[in-house]
Amino acid sequence: MKFLAGIAAILPSVSLAQPAKPTMKAIVLHEYGGPEVLKYEDVPRPKPKEDQILARRVIAAGVNPVDGMIRSGMFAKDEKTAFPRILGADIAGVVEKTGSKITKFKAGDAVYAYISLDNEGGYAEYALATENEASPKPKSLDYVEAAAVPVVALTAWQALIDTAKLSAGETVLIHGGSGGVGTFAIQIAKGRGAKVIATASTANQDLLKQLGADVAIDYTKTKFEDIAKDVDVVLDSVGKDTLARSYGVMKKGGFIVSLVARPDQAELAKRGLRGASLSAEPNSNELAEIGNLIDEKKIRVIVSQTFPLSEARKAHEQVATGHTRGKIVLKVADEPK
Ligand SMILES: NC(=O)c1ccc[n+]([C@@H]2O[C@H](COP(=O)([O-])OP(=O)(O)OC[C@H]3O[C@@H](n4cnc5c(N)ncnc54)[C@H](OP(=O)(O)O)[C@@H]3O)[C@@H](O)[C@H]2O)c1
Repeated sequence: MKFLAGIAAILPSVSLAQPAKPTMKAIVLHEYGGPEVLKYEDVPRPKPKEDQILARRVIAAGVNPVDGMIRSGMFAKDEKTAFPRILGADIAGVVEKTGSKITKFKAGDAVYAYISLDNEGGYAEYALATENEASPKPKSLDYVEAAAVPVVALTAWQALIDTAKLSAGETVLIHGGSGGVGTFAIQIAKGRGAKVIATASTANQDLLKQLGADVAIDYTKTKFEDIAKDVDVVLDSVGKDTLARSYGVMKKGGFIVSLVARPDQAELAKRGLRGASLSAEPNSNELAEIGNLIDEKKIRVIVSQTFPLSEARKAHEQVATGHTRGKIVLKVADEPK
């Protein structure tokens, strides 16, 4: 592709020369498998459709555990997406071009977005997003920090506020408080005036406290049920035994939201609890609201590691440990001056 582009450039007056199709660097998936199936390649640049789609120059792309699940084929039987495909739901970048129905954005705007999992495409120099997926990038963040926000912050917001309706004075137990979702969940819950109990391993106890947790529990040393009592809301991002043991620490009428499993209906009924599993969705209004809280310094963004786009494989290996502190972000291009 590069070779043909070069020919067109040195022979501009030859009428038969086809204009070179614009390409971009991307991490491309041609098959399901381990991190080694993530290939750094040149691919055609996507074009914005007229119907409310934006094209943007991606500066940074967040990496989420779900990216690894898709890569490994965990959802293969339910997926309609064909290979080759580009993963990546979290992006921060600059709008390059807009479709004819776009009214909220124009070329040059700094944006961040949660691209729906059916479309994705964030591990690339250019990606597409709809108006409901994108919001103005928080001004106080650089692009790497901004790319760490959308999926996990919206997940925490939709779990605590939209689903569990967490309110001031309530007690919330946040499992996995040091991870992508958890770091936002602690801060969102504190912002609502809740009392926050959060769990993480020994190395992350300091982080839980810095983010505002009232009580930090080291799950490697202490059973959370020995400390957490009369909890109104549980946010579960761990599942299995952690979910099963959580019912017992809750107040009657309390709400448990799981990101990874379906709460047991029989347990809920027996104990007079409510519960739901959540599948977070893009929401530009909520993303804008989260952006305002970030710019007001009410929410901090924790990025523990960055990798160049070409090293997405290493980023996936880290995320697969299940012990990421804050977020991992791919740097796709230099921050604009
Ligand atoms: N349903 C949805 O819409 C949705 C959306 C986003 C995420 N998720 C899922 O939610 C989970 C968390 O996502 P994430 O992005 O926050 O992941 P992450 O960034 O990898 O964070 C995972 C965190 O869990 C902590 N952890 C591991 N084992 C634990 C245990 N037994 N008890 C308490 N904490 C434990 C780790 O802390 P230590 O390192 O200190 O152990 C780590 O900070 C993933 O499975 C993800 O797929 C679902």
